[in-house]
Amino acid sequence: MPVQFSFSHDIAHHRLNRRLLQQRSADLLHLLKLEAAEVSVVFMGDVEMAAYNEQYRKKKGATNVLSFPAGEGDDGFPPQATELGDILVSVDTARREAARAGHSLHHRLIELIIHGMLHLIGYDHERSEDEAVRMWDYEKELFQQIQTTRSVAMPFLAINVDHVATIRQARGGVEPDPVLAASLCELAGADGIVVHLREDRRHIQDRDVRLLRQTVKTKLNLEMANAAEIVDIALEIVPDMITLVPEKRKELTTEGGLDVLANAKKLTKTIEKMRKAGIPVSLFVDADVAQVQAALDVGATFVELHTGPYCEARTMEDQEQQFRLIEQTAELAYETGLRVNAGHGLDYRNAHPIAGLPFIEELSIGHAVVSRAVLVGIENAVREMLAIVRAV
Ligand code: PXP
Repeated sequence: MPVQFSFSHDIAHHRLNRRLLQQRSADLLHLLKLEAAEVSVVFMGDVEMAAYNEQYRKKKGATNVLSFPAGEGDDGFPPQATELGDILVSVDTARREAARAGHSLHHRLIELIIHGMLHLIGYDHERSEDEAVRMWDYEKELFQQIQTTRSVAMPFLAINVDHVATIRQARGGVEPDPVLAASLCELAGADGIVVHLREDRRHIQDRDVRLLRQTVKTKLNLEMANAAEIVDIALEIVPDMITLVPEKRKELTTEGGLDVLANAKKLTKTIEKMRKAGIPVSLFVDADVAQVQAALDVGATFVELHTGPYCEARTMEDQEQQFRLIEQTAELAYETGLRVNAGHGLDYRNAHPIAGLPFIEELSIGHAVVSRAVLVGIENAVREMLAIVRAV
């Protein structure tokens, strides 16, 4: 393996995504045309890093990254031509720097690996300002190139067919049938089907959920309020998972994430019932660290991060800020042990960056796909969305 990773015991609590780091480092070597090179990257805490900093640089305290180009080894033999050297990274320092810059921990770790790698191949930022600028620019360029290739598995696409039922209910008849629509979505390649059985039954009906349970071949995700009547239906039908959402009678669509903190007791009870029935529970939450932590505490398996504020942002700055918030919260949720989905308001223009976030497992998209289906047919609409989501 060209990049050899090791992890000190004292950083176990950081929950690093080793696969992501490994893949990004391999991508980096590829970009630097150093596929044959061998590099060792050691992730450690501040205490260990401070000891190395003192021993080799005579400096007190920890630093973020140290590089040791391959030189003559302890055994007196010259290094192999392919050996580049060692990079030491302090995860504690990286986490603090990430928080200050508003980035995720893994974002910062990848920056530090790039920095360390450039040192190994001779770049330097202390000899002159020109060299420092050259190194800094190259670091930024490499980071951009690495981030554009999503190297963790692509996200799944679940299609919400509620609005097929909305059209049916407009006339109170039997057409169009969301059950048939769901099958067509699956035929077009969708990875799952989502329906929201609302207490007011404004679109999806009990009959739809019962039939979908029998016909969906991929994964049926029942979106629902934490209401006794709907909980009973879920326990009887046993979907592949449920997503708990807040529900208000007058809203046009789900307006915000669940307040898990305020409803912890009721949610814990429902999640426990679902656990006994073998139904994993996802909680639809805003990109908010406290809500994510609360979701973990009440026993959820997944969180679905609310992408509405990102989709509705009216300025580039706001959209960028909302995107960063989702990126950071997704990573934090993943690090705490939750599985992460995302959805609400995603469409053919804004879904791609969210699909590229490495910690997000599944996107739930409804309105945009059903709207497009009216014009191009539902199979085409699903395929077009799949092409966007999978082009990451
Ligand atoms: N996720 C949740 C929790 C939702 O409530 C909805 C809307 O039903 C969606 C995803 C899909 O949102 P949209 O229809 O805007 O794609």
